Amino acid sequence: MKISVPTETAPHEQRVALAPESVGRLAKQLKVEVLVQRGAGLAAGFRDEAFEAVGAKIVPDAAAALSGAEVVAKVQPPNASEIGMIPAGTTLVSLMNPGRSPGLSEALASHRINSLALELVPRITRAQSMDVLSSQSTVSGYKGVLIGSAALPKFLPMLTTAAGNISPAKAFVIGAGVAGLQAIATARRLGAVVSAFDVRPAAREQVLSLGATFVANDLVSESAQAAGGYARAQTEDEQARTLSAIAAHIKDQDLVVTTAQIPGRKAPTLITSAMVATMKPGSVIVDLAAETGGNCELSKPGETVSSNEVTIIAPLNVPSTVPFHASQMFGRNIFELMKHLVKDGALVLDPSDEITGAMLVTHEGKALR
Ligand code: NAI
Repeated sequence: MKISVPTETAPHEQRVALAPESVGRLAKQLKVEVLVQRGAGLAAGFRDEAFEAVGAKIVPDAAAALSGAEVVAKVQPPNASEIGMIPAGTTLVSLMNPGRSPGLSEALASHRINSLALELVPRITRAQSMDVLSSQSTVSGYKGVLIGSAALPKFLPMLTTAAGNISPAKAFVIGAGVAGLQAIATARRLGAVVSAFDVRPAAREQVLSLGATFVANDLVSESAQAAGGYARAQTEDEQARTLSAIAAHIKDQDLVVTTAQIPGRKAPTLITSAMVATMKPGSVIVDLAAETGGNCELSKPGETVSSNEVTIIAPLNVPSTVPFHASQMFGRNIFELMKHLVKDGALVLDPSDEITGAMLVTHEGKALR
């Protein structure tokens, strides 16, 4: 069996679907041959030689990479020209940006390309190692704090120097899922005094275990957690109480990192422009929910804006800015998925399987979602 890895073509995408480490494991453990397009890993820091050293075959161009294997592994969904190069019967494994890629599943179905969306890995313990949303959120949470700290006119840590003592910055993380927890850990490592807020009780426990303080204990409720560990949307009353708790807390903060999301919906607005107006000059908001509309009313996805001397940064595709480790983790997720899908050297797409069925977007010419 063969898996191919084309070079990503989406603007600003620096990751590669498999890093050499996972290519080596696919070859050794699953006896899968991997074809890598020439230069596919360069932007992430992996030369062709590193892939060859673990048994990959380098192919010259996208046409060879997209047409030469039973499985095509990509980070971003293919564009129309890439779809045109993938032969019928091939299985595509990639992000599909559900809801933001109109016509994609129909196009894949009409070309009889089977496809699995990596966002749709079910949130069950067994599938945790395949979950790219988690692995890439880890990258975002880490980098979000670095982006914010670079824009801050302050140090994060407390310093004792000959020029006097410096007090630590205050960092506030809103939404303590995978990205938020990593943001808390990173801000703590850099020496900030960290507080956080989430609506789920499990998140509250995790915030405390990382040594951060929890804002608004009374707003956490068992019922806030929906299927798969995700949060549900808040009621109007809950939202009003949340906004008032955040408003009271945010005015003393230096760095705010927001990550709150509700699956399949626009991200909740948790920082209003009125709140921004109360913040200290020089303070920074990094809105990591920008891709789904943002948690701050003033966020402009992909841009940095300033309001009342507060900087609001709303970066897109943050994992791509740490492409080496983001690709390594992405590749490990794909390797684990392939371990699940390859039986006795052959790919098995069983729609009745709990993991495969949840991820299948197109199968045997039909668009399933
Ligand atoms: P996410 O990216 O959908 O949301 C980020 C965070 O925002 C969540 O913690 C959510 O509770 C929070 N949030 C939503 N609305 C909010 C509001 N109004 N105010 C404050 N916070 C709000 O979530 P993520 O990080 O992808 O995962 C959430 C949880 O799912 C994890 O903590 C984990 O327990 C579970 N999970 C399970 C996996 C598995 O079992 N395979 C894999 C990954 C996550």
